[in-house]
Amino acid sequence: MSSELDFVHRFVPGSSDRTLLLLHGTGGNEHQLIPLGRELDPAAALLSPRGKVLENGHARFFRRLAEGVFDLEDLQRRTDELAEFVLAAAAHYQFAVEKMVAVGYSNGANIAASILLRRAGVLQTAVLLRAMVPFLPEKLLDLSTVRVWIAGGKQDVIIAPAETQRLADLLQAAGANVSAHFFEAGHGLTNEEFVLVSRWLKKLGP
Ligand code: MLT
Repeated sequence: MSSELDFVHRFVPGSSDRTLLLLHGTGGNEHQLIPLGRELDPAAALLSPRGKVLENGHARFFRRLAEGVFDLEDLQRRTDELAEFVLAAAAHYQFAVEKMVAVGYSNGANIAASILLRRAGVLQTAVLLRAMVPFLPEKLLDLSTVRVWIAGGKQDVIIAPAETQRLADLLQAAGANVSAHFFEAGHGLTNEEFVLVSRWLKKLGP
């Protein structure tokens, strides 16, 4: 394993050109989203890293000072670190980065959004489940080739739907093609959205 593959992770080969980058929420791990990834796309390869930050023993992708208040310096560093890992993993496992789809939940969706806003060209497609604006960039990157499917829970008390909408608006302002959805749900995910994501992925093609 190359030294840049420095996230604990799982890689499950697939039978199509697509790779799903699975990014768990606080307290998750590299195993947690594998079944969901398989359900969303039975043919895709799956790359699932574990966040390196521990908060009271719970793994996350970056540090926070309080709920919804992020350590922006750490976020910046962890965003770059994860982006480098993804590029190294693509070289190591020989998958096409441009065919990769990030699927992030909560903290995982927030770091995916941070990669979109900070690292041009790493993510072309992202599914952001219960996400918020991770940081406000000084200058928006050109995201006109990027597609995002984003979902909030109308009763989510951890990430208010208005915060998810703010992120959708920001990504759209950067030129991304954004499809935003709000469900009768809290922070937990619903089957309804899995079905919709799966359909959306099918429509994007293999
Ligand atoms: C975050 O810290 O990224 C969000 O508050 C969501 C969470 O992980 O609870």
